[in-house]
Amino acid sequence: MLSYRHAFHAGNHADVVKHMVWAFVLNYLCQKDKPFYVHDSHAGAGLYELASDMMQKKQEYQSGILRLLENESAIAAPILADYLTLIRGFNDGAGKDISVYPGSPKIAQHYLRANDRMLITDLHGTDAPQLKALFADDARIRIQKKDAYDGLIAAVPPKEGRGAILIDPSYEVKDEYDILPNRLAKALTRFMNGVYIVWYPVLGRQKTEHFIKQLAAVLKSKNVKNPLSSLRVELNVLPDREDGFGMVGSGLYVVNPPYTLRPALDAAMPELVKFLAPETGRFIIEENNHL
Ligand SMILES: C[S@@+](CC[C@H](N)C(=O)[O-])C[C@H]1O[C@@H](n2cnc3c(N)ncnc32)[C@H](O)[C@@H]1O
Repeated sequence: MLSYRHAFHAGNHADVVKHMVWAFVLNYLCQKDKPFYVHDSHAGAGLYELASDMMQKKQEYQSGILRLLENESAIAAPILADYLTLIRGFNDGAGKDISVYPGSPKIAQHYLRANDRMLITDLHGTDAPQLKALFADDARIRIQKKDAYDGLIAAVPPKEGRGAILIDPSYEVKDEYDILPNRLAKALTRFMNGVYIVWYPVLGRQKTEHFIKQLAAVLKSKNVKNPLSSLRVELNVLPDREDGFGMVGSGLYVVNPPYTLRPALDAAMPELVKFLAPETGRFIIEENNHL
């Protein structure tokens, strides 16, 4: 039984990094006319009202998206500026005062063209019907209340031969840190060209590094034809703690990243640290750590 509700966290520092990269990858796919396929395996509720009880409870968006919008005029990195413009676009485009924050499937919908397709899966009893209502009028989008990893394996390879997959679990199941690399390996054997974005929380440094090693091992396993490239990006807003209580940061492990992503992040990550965690923040960018 899943209890995680993304509305408590929507728009926080982790969403900022994840959605900034997600939007960049989708925009990159739009640069070619050939249709692409998107899979959002852990979709959440899709759209979040800032005034809702859940968002008001912790107000994590205050130290995430709102902090950035307040400092928008000082932000120079194009990937970050484009992300802020995107978020404002869901809010009539003006000012820092936003009333909704879009989740990953809503962001992806923004980039879909007439012949692109998206599969959205979520297992939560409340989120899945909400997603169905949100995307009911969009024939390009299929919504399934289904296990993310079953959905992932069933859907690859997509007929388009190109696309992006966001794997953004709530890590509520204890062995998810093992299941995910295993399923990623299987998906990669079927769809090697896809851009895969795996989100991870930083709860303890040892645990995080162990997980990254597991992901890196997937890329050099004998079932996956090399060379595949990877890019890890991580934003920590607090110093590491080893007791595992509380998320000090989060990261993305991107398989087959667009070649333009690294320079874009080189410009954006120092700005994210500066505006979101000037005293305690730090970032990591690592390329091809499977080699
Ligand atoms: C972090 S939230 C997703 C946030 C969303 N991707 C976004 O960025 O807006 C994780 C979601 O995964 C769902 N979930 C957890 N385990 C799942 C599974 N095995 N299969 C499908 N959905 C799952 C939860 O219900 C939750 O809505």
